[in-house]
Amino acid sequence: MIIRVNPDGESMLSPDNYRLDGIRALVTGASRGIGAAIAEAFAVAGAHVALAARTEEATTRTAERIERSSPDSPKAHRIAGDLADPAVAPRIVNEAAGLLGGLDVLVHNAGVLPVDPQGNPVFKPLALSTAQEWEPVLAVNLSATVALCRAAYPLLVESDNPSVLLVSSVAGLIGVPTMEAYGVTKSAQVSLARSLATGWAGQGIRVNVLCPGWVRTDMTATVYGNEALSALLLQHVPMQRWAEPEEVAGPAVFLTSSAASFITGHALVIDGGLSVPHGGLAGLPTEPSPTD
Ligand SMILES: NC(=O)c1ccc[n+]([C@@H]2O[C@H](COP(=O)([O-])OP(=O)(O)OC[C@H]3O[C@@H](n4cnc5c(N)ncnc54)[C@H](OP(=O)(O)O)[C@@H]3O)[C@@H](O)[C@H]2O)c1
Repeated sequence: MIIRVNPDGESMLSPDNYRLDGIRALVTGASRGIGAAIAEAFAVAGAHVALAARTEEATTRTAERIERSSPDSPKAHRIAGDLADPAVAPRIVNEAAGLLGGLDVLVHNAGVLPVDPQGNPVFKPLALSTAQEWEPVLAVNLSATVALCRAAYPLLVESDNPSVLLVSSVAGLIGVPTMEAYGVTKSAQVSLARSLATGWAGQGIRVNVLCPGWVRTDMTATVYGNEALSALLLQHVPMQRWAEPEEVAGPAVFLTSSAASFITGHALVIDGGLSVPHGGLAGLPTEPSPTD
């Protein structure tokens, strides 16, 4: 692994450490939301990216945005595959490595909530949930995570600057009633990252996790679109607002850059304070602002 720590006495504090120049990265779920923002931020930081989603057309908009925001970066590659199918993860990884000429960074961001037949998220107590609702969540969020990491390993060991970044959720760290299926898989991603971080440290492969709170994307559209529900949820977010996908992208660039060269097995929380224990005092009047 190249750690830009300089044995010859040059400053270690180069702004280059916060860039991803020359990094070859696969980003799953790159068609929209958090994955699209991460892919674009990677390209802006100098990375060469492969964008994965279920169809190739789905990533067209992200590829076009990358062309506009990073005209000097190599063209983004587009890969199609449904990660609910166990055969797809190794195929996607190997296709990305073929297109990029190797692989330095795997970002597994694709993820799903249980949905009803119309595709709307389902929030219901465990006793009322069905095995059919759990199945795709386990497949995409958990089994595909394992399969992608397994397939990426032989490529990452060949890299000078290898890392894995899993997009988990704060729901994997705290209790969220009615989101058990999702929470279980997001917890499992944190656990897997910690195990792999220790297991793969000898090969120089760093493995980290992002744990966003409520982010405004298609996944949460029915929630933030419901004013009463959104207000209820925001009562528990000290910053009292939703995050934008770009606010997850910056931490993703940081954790895969050389600036984070000694960080592995870390779950970075991006939740506006949601998971900070409030001792049951959430909702009490806040400090007056100087203009009050
Ligand atoms: N939004 C939030 O509040 C929030 C909070 C915490 C964590 N997260 C996590 O952040 C990640 C991204 O979420 P998001 O909010 O950006 O979601 P989103 O807007 O619904 O986008 C999901 C992405 O995953 C891809 N995807 C879904 N199912 C797939 C499958 N079976 N095979 C391959 N790709 C698939 C989608 O691609 P297609 O074009 O193929 O549909 C899309 O690119 C997820 O892991 C989610 O759990 C989100």
